[in-house]
Amino acid sequence: MPSKPEKDAVTGVETTGHEWDGIKELNNPLPSWWVWTFYVCIAFSVVWFILFPAIPFGPSATTGLTGNTARERVANEIQAAADARAGINQRIVEADLDTIRGDPDLFTYALTGGEILFGDNCAPCHGVGGAGQLNYPVLADDAWIWGGTLDAIQQTILYGVRNQEYEFDARFSMMPRYGTDQLLTREEIDQVANYVVTLSGRAPEDPALAEAGSEIYAQQCASCHGAGGEGMAALGAPNLTDAIWLYGGELGDIRQQIWNPQHGVMPGWVDRIAPAEIKMVSLYVHSLGGWQ
Ligand code: HEC
Ligand code: HEC
Repeated sequence: MPSKPEKDAVTGVETTGHEWDGIKELNNPLPSWWVWTFYVCIAFSVVWFILFPAIPFGPSATTGLTGNTARERVANEIQAAADARAGINQRIVEADLDTIRGDPDLFTYALTGGEILFGDNCAPCHGVGGAGQLNYPVLADDAWIWGGTLDAIQQTILYGVRNQEYEFDARFSMMPRYGTDQLLTREEIDQVANYVVTLSGRAPEDPALAEAGSEIYAQQCASCHGAGGEGMAALGAPNLTDAIWLYGGELGDIRQQIWNPQHGVMPGWVDRIAPAEIKMVSLYVHSLGGWQ
């Protein structure tokens, strides 16, 4: 390498001394706008390092003079949103049904919130909008297993039905296993199943069996399902006259339920969502069923 930089004959610019196959590299200075941008960036980064969290330090980073972090900003925003709602949430918890229905702001807030909560927590079992599915009751009608007043609905939601978690507070009842436990003979079960078909206004498969079943119904079933099959909310015994079936309404389904009954289990929500949320989702469910 020559000790004094060589000048390119054509441009008059110094070369770097690198040469490939006779082509020499010119040593043009960097454009000054580029150099200045570079210096400004360095200065900016120094200011940033001082003011904001930047340098990794142990498990976290230096906090900077402002102590400002994105995590903290989000936490503050969430807290601010919760604070903003605290007042209205408290009013929801305290207000009775008539007050809420009479106050358009409270009413819209509660129902909108309830609908969102329902979609997040309840729709997987009860279907979108409470449409229900086999083994999971429809909530968008006015037929209630456990009662359709706001208080009754709220009670069901708080502690659920037949779950282990709230064993003592959950709603509970069991229909006897008439076949499995040999409380009735196969023939008697056939008879009473035929009779149950008639309760919802349908013709039985075998009228003679249905007629004999009427007696068995009165002795075995009326104490829970009511003399006319109208159901009993206190015992969670469904109405058998309304053609709404949790476990299917065909003769075979009914026979199966009498032989070895299925029992629905629903989780409780008292420890899963806040009190205001329980109230909002109860109001929403209540509104689906037509405000009994
Ligand atoms: C894991 C499934 C499941 C989830 C999740 C669930 N439920 Fe239920 N729910 C059930 C079952 C099953 C029953 C029927 C219990 C029975 O047979 O008595 C029920 C019954 C109910 C009843 C009583 C219906 C009646 O006719 O009396 C209400 C009200 C209710 N659920 C509301 C809710 C709400 C509100 C949520 C969400 C916060 C929810 N459920 C989440 C399974 C579920
Ligand atoms: C101790 C109370 C009790 C007695 C007695 C009882 N049941 Fe039930 N029955 C229930 C309960 C509770 C359910 C609902 C189970 C559930 O919600 O998961 C039910 C459900 C049913 C169903 C299903 C309803 C549906 O929507 O799918 C039929 C059918 C039925 N019972 C018929 C009978 C007949 C017939 C008898 C008499 C032979 C009888 N039950 C006796 C409590 C009782």
